[in-house]
Amino acid sequence: MELGILKESVAGETRVALLPESLKGLVAQGLTVIVESGAGVAAGASDAAYTDAGATITDRGAILAGADILPVVNAPEPADQARLKPGAVVIGFLKPLDAPLALSTAMARPVTMFSMELVPRISRAQTMDALSSMATVAGYKAVVDAAGVLPRLFPMLMTAAGTLAPARVFVIGAGVAGLQAIATARRLGAVVEAYDVRAAAGEQVRSLGAKFLDVDLGGINTEGGGGYAAELSEEALNRGRDLITKTAAHSDVIVTTAQVPGRPAPLLLRRAAVEAMRSGSVLVDLAAPAGGNCELTKPGVTQTIGGVTLMAPLNLPAEVPVHASQLYAKNILNFLGLILKKGALQVDLSDEVLAGACVAHDGKPVNPRVAKLLETASLAVN
Ligand code: NAI
Repeated sequence: MELGILKESVAGETRVALLPESLKGLVAQGLTVIVESGAGVAAGASDAAYTDAGATITDRGAILAGADILPVVNAPEPADQARLKPGAVVIGFLKPLDAPLALSTAMARPVTMFSMELVPRISRAQTMDALSSMATVAGYKAVVDAAGVLPRLFPMLMTAAGTLAPARVFVIGAGVAGLQAIATARRLGAVVEAYDVRAAAGEQVRSLGAKFLDVDLGGINTEGGGGYAAELSEEALNRGRDLITKTAAHSDVIVTTAQVPGRPAPLLLRRAAVEAMRSGSVLVDLAAPAGGNCELTKPGVTQTIGGVTLMAPLNLPAEVPVHASQLYAKNILNFLGLILKKGALQVDLSDEVLAGACVAHDGKPVNPRVAKLLETASLAVN
């Protein structure tokens, strides 16, 4: 049984699916681990470190043709999908709901794909929750990046030369990334306010020493399944937008993270909100990969608008590759524990975690949402 580790091919990707320290248990189970040369270099893991951990360094073609198990960060390109070994199991951030057509080549082949985004968010699967791991890294890095650009300090300082007021940080969307942004901003000494449509987020925000901003949404249901938010009506969104524009006027930094799974990010900051911000303020739109929470956001581009820096990073975890890879590798290892028994592959789709995460098994679609999306998308193309 061969397990392959590829050098990620997506531009700007620096993470790696498994680190040398992840290999001990796999090698002990009798797996042969093959690693593409340079796979871990950007994440601080040299070829020699993988070799010392019991792996063999080889080329990409040999890994694609030989690997029975292929943990990845991003979905392999179509040309790589075409070279997968029949029966191979691919596990990673495959974006089956956002970009189903990018998986078409693999869907037409007798391979099995598990998407880390689809791992159900139940207690038993918490150690495999790679979305949370990456959101944690992104929430931290967003605040640190904003602090690096802001022409002010974060903490209140009382010096002989006078007192500096603390920075005011506003976090929109208090999920995993938002809560980490709040905690990081608080550690740096900022005064923090936060807003989320889920009432449950209020207690978590307050426990981090931040103020939770309540909006009267008229008692509508704001919770979707699995702890996620529901998509709101325009009217409910407008109530949030009014509060956001008001709060933006006194905020030095805004970090916005609001998302609804499988949908474009809700539009929460109109141009007026950005114009309300003081010159020198910073807005980090972490929802940029899903289109952004701000109507002026250009995903992947940093802009200056009326003196306000608007950042829209697409892959912040890749800017912290060592720790992002360390967390991701642990999530992958825990997932592998579900399909590897004493070194042999055993895919039991009656396990709700495996069934939830499975995009396709032996070439047949498993996840109904993905199957439907693929059908619709291919009909639209043809
Ligand atoms: P996410 O990335 O989908 O969304 C981020 C935040 O945006 C969420 O808190 C959401 O409520 C908020 N949001 C959505 N629409 C909004 C709007 N119009 N205005 C303001 N805020 C809006 O969610 P994430 O961070 O991945 O997870 C959210 C929640 O899921 C967690 O806080 C937790 O309750 C639950 N969860 C449960 C886990 C478990 O039980 N294992 C693991 C991870 C998360």
